[in-house]
Amino acid sequence: MTVPEAITIDGPASSGKSTVGAILARDLNYLYFDTGVMYRAVTLGVLQSNISMLEESRITTLAEKVVIDIKPPSKEDTRQYDVLLNGVDVTWKIRTREVDQHVSQVSAYAGVRKAMTFQQRQIGLRGKVVMVGRDIGTIVLPEAKLKIYLDASAEVRAMRRYQELINRGEQASYENILAGLRKRDEIDSTRKIAPLKPAEDAVIIDTDQMTVQEVVERIKAEIR
Ligand code: DC
Repeated sequence: MTVPEAITIDGPASSGKSTVGAILARDLNYLYFDTGVMYRAVTLGVLQSNISMLEESRITTLAEKVVIDIKPPSKEDTRQYDVLLNGVDVTWKIRTREVDQHVSQVSAYAGVRKAMTFQQRQIGLRGKVVMVGRDIGTIVLPEAKLKIYLDASAEVRAMRRYQELINRGEQASYENILAGLRKRDEIDSTRKIAPLKPAEDAVIIDTDQMTVQEVVERIKAEIR
């Protein structure tokens, strides 16, 4: 089978993009690149600098200056990769509730998107990459030959996220998770620049009734 040089996977929060993207990349021997990590790292940088979430110009300057690196995992603690923010390991710090709460707001700023999109495109153009995010098929790599859009109802996504946290031994409330997801969906899909939506030529997969492996197989069928 001829594998497209770049495969894009977009979709709402907790639609399974990261899990599916990572497995697919491993099976194809491609680079796996989760672009949400970059917006999360910028958001963490904003929180650490005590900049208000409303200060768009300071946040934009920060986004233009920060150095975000994604490297092979240095520890065996279930991480898929290391995320470095200005050289410091922030792999788990970008997954906190605080970052979850603010990342959609930060990623809606035009200057932040411009800085991140530029870097993402450079990586995408090198090829052999499975790139995951919200606007990869529409804005970052519109020339990609295979574009996937993973969808699932908010309830199913919230339940998956809830199970994930419980399995990790963390406290979780299904209702709070559902409310948080709905809020992020709303901001991500109604923002002015690069809103979450399927590319016109995207293959849309509704994963409500599907297992991770079934989704991976479905994408491989598209490749064939
Ligand atoms: O996929 P995630 O939940 O880690 O993404 C975090 C946030 O980053 C998400 O709420 C919106 C933003 N994001 C984006 O705007 N564009 C992308 N390509 C990836 C993520």
